[in-house]
Amino acid sequence: MKERILRELRQGLRVSGEELGRNLGISRAAVWKYIRELREQGYVINSSPNKGYLLEASPDIPIPEEVLEGLSTHVLGRTVIYRSKVASTQDIAKSLASEGGEEGTMVIAEAQTKGRGRMGRTWVSNPGGLYFSLILRPEIEPSEALKLPLIMGVGIAQAINNVTGLNPRLKWPNDIMVAGKKVGGILSEMSAETDRVQYVVVGVGLNLNSRKEDFSQELQDTAVSLMEAAGEYVSRVRLIQMILYELEELYEVYKTSGFESIRYRWKAFSNTIGRKVWVSSGTEQMEGEALDIDQDGALILRKPDGTDQRIVAGDVSLREDLP
Ligand code: BTN
Repeated sequence: MKERILRELRQGLRVSGEELGRNLGISRAAVWKYIRELREQGYVINSSPNKGYLLEASPDIPIPEEVLEGLSTHVLGRTVIYRSKVASTQDIAKSLASEGGEEGTMVIAEAQTKGRGRMGRTWVSNPGGLYFSLILRPEIEPSEALKLPLIMGVGIAQAINNVTGLNPRLKWPNDIMVAGKKVGGILSEMSAETDRVQYVVVGVGLNLNSRKEDFSQELQDTAVSLMEAAGEYVSRVRLIQMILYELEELYEVYKTSGFESIRYRWKAFSNTIGRKVWVSSGTEQMEGEALDIDQDGALILRKPDGTDQRIVAGDVSLREDLP
């Protein structure tokens, strides 16, 4: 019902409680109750005694009512679950997925108490950032799943560019960088049978509107937020909608035509290819030149002895960034 009241108010005209009640088949007291709830959520609704209600501003909070308003995707983000604080959006999305949750379902949280990053690291998730997990159900073999976070990376980089004008770079495998510092990361977790993926949950953490002092001393040298880099507040709702839009397009391309054209787009955003790097993969530490990513999304490292090594998991540091 709240959604229906919002829809009426979004027409941009002043509407009386009586009229709202009549249109929606509820009492004026019920209308008042929903208006109060909307105000509590952050909607600014002006009310004048004889003329009725006027929506003056909507909150930049990724509640379903806001994300779905004007969202142009068909599948991704059509179901949005918003929570103020959770342990990890990954866990919620994974348990939904294992119970049959639909492709495109998105779990967003204001803050996480146990946010996790790649390689078992902690992902500090204070309010001010953007933290979400998306359920995907691609009909692929498990070995293909490495491509999904790369596809996600391209979609996010493109969306950041569209919304802020910044030029983000992608660092293999899943880091989103702005001005040489990390602005976000992607964590992909899947459930699969031997030859078929059941679901993949792609988690995204972005430093959105955090300030320098919000980062720990340790992170201040290596992390940055979009707000700091762009010099202005970045709308969460708009960025989420843009990410979903860009990602759905890429995901469609991938499902119908394969990974090749996305591989090229990834390389165009990359800050890794052609650079001297250090790679740590498992217990191995290697140096060399990041030559390419292959058709599976693996990194090809040319080592000092001239041989090439294919790397499917690991961390990359650009040589000039090292102390
Ligand atoms: C990385 O760079 O290591 C990946 C970080 C991914 C963090 C996101 S935040 C939303 C989702 N929930 C989590 O617990 N992790 C991912």
